[in-house]
Amino acid sequence: MSKHAAAAPLVLEVNGTTHALAVPPEASLLTVLRNDLGLNGPKYGCGLGQCGACTVLVDGVAARACVIPVGGVAGRTVTTLEGLGSRERPHPVQQAFVDAQAAQCGYCLNGMIMMAAALLAECPRPSEADVRRALSGNLCRCGTHVEIVDAVLRAAGLLAAAGSETAPASAIPQPAET
Ligand code: FES
Ligand code: FES
Repeated sequence: MSKHAAAAPLVLEVNGTTHALAVPPEASLLTVLRNDLGLNGPKYGCGLGQCGACTVLVDGVAARACVIPVGGVAGRTVTTLEGLGSRERPHPVQQAFVDAQAAQCGYCLNGMIMMAAALLAECPRPSEADVRRALSGNLCRCGTHVEIVDAVLRAAGLLAAAGSETAPASAIPQPAET
């Protein structure tokens, strides 16, 4: 094959939709999500895997999209903030953040919400210490931490109250087996 032959499209499953994209496999997943798929939930913060603003779920596990080459998630399931819920039907974690008014500028919220969703999928009734530990790597420059922790605990309550009606286990992808 000629070295100039076009590369095969990269197949990605994002929020339940399969995409075939002509992107270099070394491009960051964050760049592809935002620039090629128009998904602006994941935010560009540090670009170094250190702030959590770009968090998505890969096979149900929270991951930092800014440092993941898109080729590394081919054939895997990616969920962004847009795939968690909608304006009309927010996910309980999203609803809890609204109820708790857990935002100032809001830039960190994508990461906080995706981390919270991953936490609650594994640990539906976390303690405050569990929440603080899970979110300890997500930075908030506005100092909204108290409201954010409150929102995650509220979300756990909403999920418990909804029980099987909202089927949280199917709404939030489960962690992959390792
Ligand atoms: S933008 Fe990805 S961790 Fe900061
Ligand atoms: S609300 Fe502004 S960075 Fe968290």
